[in-house]
Amino acid sequence: MNYLQYNAGTGSKENWVVREAVFDPRYLGKCESIFCLGNGYLNVRSALEERYVGETRDLLVTGTFNRADETEVTELPNLPDITNVDILLDGKRFRMDAGTLQEYRRELDLQTGELSRHVVWASPEGNRVKLDFFRFVSKENEHLIGGKLEITPLSQEVKIGIHSGIDGRVTNSGAQHFLEGSKRVYEGEYLEMVSRTNQSGVTAAVHTTHRVFLNGKAQTVPALPVISRRTIENQMEIVVPAGETLVVEKLSCVHTSRDLAYEKLSSEEAAKRTAADGLSVLRTARQEGYDRLFEKSREAWRLYWEPRDVKITCENGFDQLALRFALYHLAIMAKTDDSRVGIGAKGMSGEGYKGHSFWDTEIFILPYFMFTDPGAAKTLLEYRYHTLGGAYAKAKEYGFLGAMYPWESAWADDGEVTPKLGGADVVTGKPIPILTGELEQHVSADIAYTVWQYWLMTGDREFMERCGVEIITQTGRFWASRLEWNPEKKQFEINDVIGPDEYKEHVNNNAYTNYMAHYNMELALKLIRELREQEPVFYTGLCARLPLEETEREISEKLDLIYLPQPDDRGLIPQFDGYFGLREIDLTPYKDRETVGTIYNDYNAEQINGIMVLKQADLLVLFYLLDDLFPAELKEKNYMFYEAHTLHDSSLSKSTHCVLACDLGLSEQAYRGFTRAPA
Ligand code: BGC
Repeated sequence: MNYLQYNAGTGSKENWVVREAVFDPRYLGKCESIFCLGNGYLNVRSALEERYVGETRDLLVTGTFNRADETEVTELPNLPDITNVDILLDGKRFRMDAGTLQEYRRELDLQTGELSRHVVWASPEGNRVKLDFFRFVSKENEHLIGGKLEITPLSQEVKIGIHSGIDGRVTNSGAQHFLEGSKRVYEGEYLEMVSRTNQSGVTAAVHTTHRVFLNGKAQTVPALPVISRRTIENQMEIVVPAGETLVVEKLSCVHTSRDLAYEKLSSEEAAKRTAADGLSVLRTARQEGYDRLFEKSREAWRLYWEPRDVKITCENGFDQLALRFALYHLAIMAKTDDSRVGIGAKGMSGEGYKGHSFWDTEIFILPYFMFTDPGAAKTLLEYRYHTLGGAYAKAKEYGFLGAMYPWESAWADDGEVTPKLGGADVVTGKPIPILTGELEQHVSADIAYTVWQYWLMTGDREFMERCGVEIITQTGRFWASRLEWNPEKKQFEINDVIGPDEYKEHVNNNAYTNYMAHYNMELALKLIRELREQEPVFYTGLCARLPLEETEREISEKLDLIYLPQPDDRGLIPQFDGYFGLREIDLTPYKDRETVGTIYNDYNAEQINGIMVLKQADLLVLFYLLDDLFPAELKEKNYMFYEAHTLHDSSLSKSTHCVLACDLGLSEQAYRGFTRAPA
């Protein structure tokens, strides 16, 4: 049986439900991220209530970046966990990898944002128990997380123990971001943990409370508060006869001193507010209880989906579900009202990519927001405006002018945050140097491109005047200063870069980069000239704060002399200088694998550099973005060639190939790409 099922929803739930039909500990991580819950402010990775080896419990809150140590880069820290609940049945720990699992299903309802799990389990001693778990992250109140478990002994009376609270022992792969902080229990019912990140000084207040019912009747179960190092929990015990149902609700809330509401406060003031506000929100939430809180969140999801659901006619319901799944994750990953934060490459579904923003946001995510929620698109582009300081600093550091955007961005003031070392080199045994922070420069043009798209789509003059003109002209200026004169060719080149295809380092004249840089400079020039002619007063004002005249001069002197790679006699554009001279190998062993990057098991980065293989769409992204620049016949030839050499080892890759195949009328290939492109 397929452990994931896509047709579990029926009736009004058709194509809304993703089900895990079998519990298989090998897929703990995958399901934790697929079933992730969130609201843009916080995300809870869906680790199960009871603990398993190999699990990753993550509670991530946007913008709370911290650098655990000088030797590491800043990242979104993992906040104290509230998802863990240890269940003891007659003193023995419930865990599905022991005893017998007689019934199992876990489902994420994309429509309501609720995760549920149904289990019938027989302990090794043969004691049968039914357990149902429910969980949601509120879309109505971004601070709230609701959990509920229902336990029904089936064969005999069971003494049920619940150990549940707040666990601050979590790390990001071992990096401890939060100091010990303070812990406290209020009225025996409200657990509080307030801790601060060790470097950025962000305070996080996490509160949790429990409500207990037996057969629907509220119970006052004596709870033993247990405070130990970095943990605080309540331990309860209750005897439940066979056939009766114990319900334990666990309501939690999270506030941090980086919250938008505290933006204007000093960090001490904000820190104080986190604890007070958390407690007060939780007191109210406790009055309402899980069902009412969930109802309110469900209503918020309903309102969210109403104008946004994309309905398609399809033979296979999976296609509809897949679309909704993508929209669901877009909804939970973006805090669309806070321009101080971007979107992490993995959203907040896990620790991967550290919550950093890449070109992913502009090229792959923003189009969706531009078409469906221009306000959100604006917020995201404002974030890039706020990171301009880091872009100016990076340009300066490398000896260039204008704005050179960081390849990876975190908190607006952080500047470039790309780590310097990655996984092991199979040949040398040393960690592989990560060169993208230095060499993957196309992100500056990607941002400028998207600002222009936003302007074309919205006509948002206020944004352009305040932010857009500066982004476009100053990235244009960066490129002008970045160009290198080749006296033989009598052309300007861009050498020693990484293009979108990260399997190729130190390349010269990456077609994507050169064309996009040219486009960026052209836009900057056009904008400056149009503003001077059509908006002289505004232009003069702008000149007081931006070097527009210098920018115009520097760009206009070079623009027409930029080398733009052309097709060879087969109609193929080289991805970069010398691409067609690279060694061809049989790529079959590395295509369509369960994990990405398997080519690294056989070759190191230096060797891969010499092989005609792509990690991901590169030149083809150019066709997708600058659609009108290239004739269809040329696009098709290049599509065929590059598709054959692409491993799609980045989840960004297939969507580009898919869109292009669709444009070219290659519907079968397009559909295959659609069904396989990760959301
Ligand atoms: C891809 C990049 C992408 C980054 C974050 C890398 O593996 O090659 O294109 O920006 O992941 O998603």
